[in-house]
Amino acid sequence: MQQFKRHLITAALPYANGSVHIGHLAGVYVPADIYCRYLRMKGEDVLFVCGSDEHGVPITFKAKDLGCSPQEIVDKYHAIIKDSFNRFGISFNIYSRTSSEIHHQTAGEFFKKMYEEGKFIERESEQFYDPVAEVFLADRYIMGTCPKCGNESAYGDQCEKCGSTLSPEELINPHSRMSGEAPVKKMTKHWYLPLDKDENWLKEWILENHKEWKTNVYGQCKSWLDGGLRPRAVTRDLDWGVPVPLEDAKGKVLYVWFDAPIGYISNTKELLPNDWEKWWKSSDTRLIHFIGKDNIVFHCIVFPSMLKNYGDGYILPENVPANEFLNLEGDKISTSRNWAIWLEEYLKDFEGQQDVLRYVLCANAPETKDNDFTWKDFQARNNSELVAIYGNFVNRALVLTHKYFDGKVPAFRQEQLTPMDKEFIASIPQITKEVEDNLSHFKFRDAIKEAMNLARLGNKYLTDTEPWKVYKTDPERVAVILNLSLQLCANLAIAFEPFCPFSSKKLEYMLGLIENKNNEVCPTSSASGKIAWENLGRVDMMETGATLNTPELLFAKIEDDAINAQTERLARIKKENEEKAMQEAAANAKAEPLKGECTFEEFEKMDIRTATVLEAVAVPKTDKLLKLTIDTGIDKRTIVSGIAQYYTPEEMVGKQICILANLKPRVIRGIESKGMILMAKEPGGKMRFITPAEVVSNGAQVG
Ligand code: 2FM
Ligand code: ZN
Repeated sequence: MQQFKRHLITAALPYANGSVHIGHLAGVYVPADIYCRYLRMKGEDVLFVCGSDEHGVPITFKAKDLGCSPQEIVDKYHAIIKDSFNRFGISFNIYSRTSSEIHHQTAGEFFKKMYEEGKFIERESEQFYDPVAEVFLADRYIMGTCPKCGNESAYGDQCEKCGSTLSPEELINPHSRMSGEAPVKKMTKHWYLPLDKDENWLKEWILENHKEWKTNVYGQCKSWLDGGLRPRAVTRDLDWGVPVPLEDAKGKVLYVWFDAPIGYISNTKELLPNDWEKWWKSSDTRLIHFIGKDNIVFHCIVFPSMLKNYGDGYILPENVPANEFLNLEGDKISTSRNWAIWLEEYLKDFEGQQDVLRYVLCANAPETKDNDFTWKDFQARNNSELVAIYGNFVNRALVLTHKYFDGKVPAFRQEQLTPMDKEFIASIPQITKEVEDNLSHFKFRDAIKEAMNLARLGNKYLTDTEPWKVYKTDPERVAVILNLSLQLCANLAIAFEPFCPFSSKKLEYMLGLIENKNNEVCPTSSASGKIAWENLGRVDMMETGATLNTPELLFAKIEDDAINAQTERLARIKKENEEKAMQEAAANAKAEPLKGECTFEEFEKMDIRTATVLEAVAVPKTDKLLKLTIDTGIDKRTIVSGIAQYYTPEEMVGKQICILANLKPRVIRGIESKGMILMAKEPGGKMRFITPAEVVSNGAQVG
């Protein structure tokens, strides 16, 4: 790292058409923040740049759906997102936005210079056009019937029901979302970045010179490059975005993926109007992009191609440590299905516990593969790691020092150190070195694990040395133990600062390492003094005789009630989504075609009876089966039925139903099932049981 004088760290610009959720935090912003904090603590010169991505088609949709302007949408979400990041301690040097004047000017000029230097190719092609609204239509603006599954609300690029990738040409009855009219084809001109011309140097730069990039990132780049690059359009027919700065480009804007990465540059310019070029055009600046896996091609191939073609000394990224995706309770996070934990909601429900989420998201980060967030794991990591290991050790060390030494760091002599103390002292730099090595290689999961091992070391030391027992007979020995424990506390405050900055500040204040309790949690410049990274591993940071402040708990236990409230909320959302999907399916679906003819004699073979459900229980280890005990009027029997998705056991008890009573018994999951409950199956799949219009006696024949 010596050859670099400064580090320019960017985090993907989130779209300002919704709030940010834990997936964003885990994939991009927590790792980027951890890395920036670590570098700053090492005294490195860091600029951490981000902002809202305020262009693109989805923002215009949202505005249309809500009957407001795109600007109103982005104003609202920019404020929410910025506030959430700030409250989670994401220490950007600047968080700006792409609707700003400086960005429009920078992106427009960027395009113009490339255009004037002949870096683009112009192409005319036929695109879909709404003849009533008089606008060209992006694929998403066209809806119609999916040719694969019959969904009447499929989009021109994808059917969300069956997941098929589509093109507008494939839709049956295509119509514009703007006017409802059938789109027509119309010629239009666009400018393309000829990526194919850059293939050779991109191959050499990534595949030869950046073999150290993460496997997922390298692999995705390799497959793009091996597949052959094609020219990519950098303009769109749209009225929301950065206007194309050319005479003959009325009604055209820069494609959002052309302007957004330039946002990193405009935001740097906005912050440092006189000094920004040093950050972007010096070979001794190290540029790192933190992104999610869906952004890899844009940051590793398209943006570097833009920068290289622009010339003028722009540097390329040294690394792009992209993460995979975080799932929530086993399902893909989805904004449209509200399957997410929104940061502002977390902040309401878990006020002051930002570090817990930062810790859990880092400890369980989707660094090499998609990962799952569960509330149970969140609770367990808080209660049995943050509270029981880190918080507990710190609390014991501080409380015992207050109890035995009046809150002052006790003194000891070197010759008092036992072999156990020496081993303890030697272990501290060994573990902190692991934290450091992992951080410097973007292995944040392993780094945080080692930081927790440091606290584990402390707990073991206190348990082995038992100062509370020793004090009566040998207070001098306790002075050694507590002095060393406090030295470890100081190490913990530093080691955890990149991950859990709020609790580190609290701990530093309790230890008397900082004077102000409300010390800035979002530093934007290098650290100095006691909290510098270079002090990590030292066992003399706490000076003998120094006074500690009153101890407070670093973390609080999270009770079952708080977790249950969250899982119940998710269960409600899941149910609502299932009902919505079934309603949509029912609305779209047609009744099943008739089966082949059957004779009256065949029908007569079936003995259908009324019966009442006496008991109902879920069959263990299944999601779908209920075991019902029913009164048929003839006997009491058991029927195992696949209706648990539609009815709870409580809902079934007491209900009068119809059953096929003479169906040959079957053993289902080890239970003999005698008969079958008659159900009406809606086209969307939803099942409802059949009940007589009025209560009749059990065993009445149906026919
Ligand atoms: O995927 C996204 O959320 C994009 N808004 C990321 C843009 S990153 C950069 F290029 F601005
Ligand atoms: Zn479909």
